[in-house]
Amino acid sequence: MKWKLSERSKRIRPSATFAVTALAKELKASGCPVLSFSAGEPDFASPPSAVTAARDAIDRGETHYTANSGVAELKRAVASYYKERFGLEYAASEIIASGGAKQVLYEAVQSLVDPGDEVLLFTPSWVSYVEQIRMAEGEPVVVDTTGSNFLPAPKAVRGALTGRTAGMIVNSPNNPTGAVYGRETLEMLAGVARERGLWIIYDEIYERLVYGAARHLNILQVAPDIRDRVIVVNGVSKAYSMTGWRIGYALGPREAISGMDDLQGHLASNPSSIAQWASVGAIEGAEADVERCRAEFERRRDILFGILSGIKGVKIVPPDGAFYAFFDVRGTGLPDDMEFCRRILEEKYVALVPGAAFFAPGFVRMSYACSEEDIRAGGARIKEFVESL
Ligand SMILES: Cc1ncc(COP(=O)(O)O)c(C=O)c1O
Repeated sequence: MKWKLSERSKRIRPSATFAVTALAKELKASGCPVLSFSAGEPDFASPPSAVTAARDAIDRGETHYTANSGVAELKRAVASYYKERFGLEYAASEIIASGGAKQVLYEAVQSLVDPGDEVLLFTPSWVSYVEQIRMAEGEPVVVDTTGSNFLPAPKAVRGALTGRTAGMIVNSPNNPTGAVYGRETLEMLAGVARERGLWIIYDEIYERLVYGAARHLNILQVAPDIRDRVIVVNGVSKAYSMTGWRIGYALGPREAISGMDDLQGHLASNPSSIAQWASVGAIEGAEADVERCRAEFERRRDILFGILSGIKGVKIVPPDGAFYAFFDVRGTGLPDDMEFCRRILEEKYVALVPGAAFFAPGFVRMSYACSEEDIRAGGARIKEFVESL
C-alpha cells in the first residue's frame, strides 16, 4: 500500500541532534575511534533512592493506572520542593506529571496555542520548541541572542511583538548555550508579559546545574505578580540523571493545568507508575547525588572551557549552566557549522552538533556529559582540526 501521510506529519522535521548521534554511532560501529559530544543526557547512574523507590513500588504492586495527572505523593514531593527551593506554593490541582518534560511542553503548547498565534522563542534554542509550536499551527517567532551573550535584549524582544503574539517560551539555564538568565533579564521578560497580557512557559529543566557565581532564579521569584500567566516546566531527567524514566512535570494555574490534564487523558494517560514513584524517591532523597553530579559537571566545564578558549579561531562565552559548551566557529575559515561538524566527524572522529539545529548557524554545541578523559582527548582533536584549516 502507498501511504499518504498527513500534511501535519510531513511538516515535522526530525531532530537534528538525533541525526548526528546516529551518524556517529554508525562510524563507531564500523570501528572508527569516535568521541561523541552530542548527548543531551547526564552520564551518571540514577540515584539509589530512585532505584529503591521503584523496586519498592513494584513489590507493593503499584503497577496499575494512576490518577491521570500523577500520584498524590509525587505532587506532594514536587510542591514541597518548590516551596523549599523557590518559596512558591502550588496545590495538587496545579501540578501535572507527564512522560518527560518534552511531553509536558507539548501539552502546554497544545493547550495554549491556536492557529496563527505567535510564540516568541529566544535563539539559540532547544530543537523541539519550534516543532511543537508548528504542530499546534502556531508561528514561532525567533529572537536572536547571539549578539548579546545569549541573553534576550529588551529592544529585540519588543521589536518581535505583534498583535498576534500570544506568549513566549523561556529556557534558563539554556540548552544549547548554557546561559543562565539573571534577574534583570527575567524582570524584563516578565514586564513584557505583564504589559502585553502574554503567557510564559518557563522551562527550567536544567535549574540544578549552574556553576561558578551564577544563580538560577525561577521567574516567579522576581515577578510573583505574574503567577497566573506562567507555566513552570521541570522534571527529573537532568538533575537526577533519570532521562530514561521519563518523568517531567508542570506547575501552573489550575485552568491551564486542567487543559493539559484533559489532553493527557486522551494522549497518554498517566506516566509510568513505577517511574513516578522513582521520582518521589529522587526528589525526596537524592540531594547529595544532585550536588555531587553538579560539582563534577562544573569541574568538566572548567577543563573544557580552558581548552576551547585557547583555540585561535574559536570564540566562546563561558557557559554558566546545563552541560553544553556552545562556541562560534565562524573564525575558522570553514563555510559553515554543518561543514565544520561533518569534516571534524569524518577527519577527527569527533561528533558535535551544528548550531543550525538550534537556529544558530556558525556555532557548534559540545556536550560535556562525558568523562574527563574524553573531554581532554576531544578538546585536543578540535584544536588540531581547527589549526589544520
Ligand atoms: C531545554 C530542554 N527542555 C526539555 C527537555 C526534555 O526533557 P525530558 O527528557 O524530561 O523530556 C530537554 C531535553 O533535552 C531540554 O534540553
